[in-house]
Amino acid sequence: MTLALAGVGYRYAGSRRPALLDIDLELRDGTVVGVVGASESGKTTLCLVASGLAPRTVGGQVRGRIALDGEDVDAWPMHRLSERIGIGFANPATQLSQVAATVFEEVAFGPMNLAVERGEVIERTWSALETLGIAELAERDPRRLSGGQQQLVAMAGLLAMRPQHLILDEPTAQLDPAGTRLVGDAIARLAADGASILVTEQKTDLLAAVADQVLALREGRVALRGPAHDVLRDSALAELGVAEPSTVRLGRLLAAAGVASERYEAALHD
Ligand SMILES: Nc1ncnc2c1ncn2[C@@H]1O[C@H](COP(=O)(O)OP(=O)(O)O)[C@@H](O)[C@H]1O
Ligand SMILES: [Mg+2]
Repeated sequence: MTLALAGVGYRYAGSRRPALLDIDLELRDGTVVGVVGASESGKTTLCLVASGLAPRTVGGQVRGRIALDGEDVDAWPMHRLSERIGIGFANPATQLSQVAATVFEEVAFGPMNLAVERGEVIERTWSALETLGIAELAERDPRRLSGGQQQLVAMAGLLAMRPQHLILDEPTAQLDPAGTRLVGDAIARLAADGASILVTEQKTDLLAAVADQVLALREGRVALRGPAHDVLRDSALAELGVAEPSTVRLGRLLAAAGVASERYEAALHD
């Protein structure tokens, strides 16, 4: 299963300049594509367009071709796309159902809407809560949690739906290092289970851990792309306003200090 964008461009309604231009992207089963870029480079817009929310609910004008498993999705309504593509945004409050009284109900909401059988909903819900380290929050009111906890709840909700394609816009923006690690683990686990995942992140350490491919945006265009391992150590990243992963920085500092960086990187990966 593949979500593919070919020559995709996008312009917000009322805007003269396109926010995205000439985007080619293939999201294949079991792979994680990371997206980096300075603020305003188009990361969120790419998530809106790839998920179909733009133009369906956001408006604006899309060009180019977007296909799911070779089938053009132009005419698909949002509810049909939502069955195949899960979407998570940086602000978790906007993702909560606002109707669930407990975290458990909140997480169960998605699979229940997909008409998953009751026993399996319960099993998926506990499994998602445990993966994200929030099983002890099951009985709490989701509206009364911290932003970080709400983000983990929103991620658990996505996990429980077992989406084939997942699009995450800065999912760890509100999380501390421990929460960030849990989200990283969840992404890796979903990909290992066969999902394809597009994730935008400022935290290149997280992408270094989970991404197969990385694409860097500049002013709505792809400025760099390739295997995560290569792109994340490309010196051009700094000019794109993207921080290098700490392993890369450490290697560079060690090299500058005259220590063979390969040995240290090998040690880091042991
Ligand atoms: N609702 C909107 N209407 C018009 N322009 C927008 C809107 N949202 C974002 N933009 C513009 O689109 C470009 C890309 O923004 P965005 O996708 O939010 O970037 P990022 O997520 O990388 O910070 C920016 O120039 C931004 O000003
Ligand atoms: Mg953004």
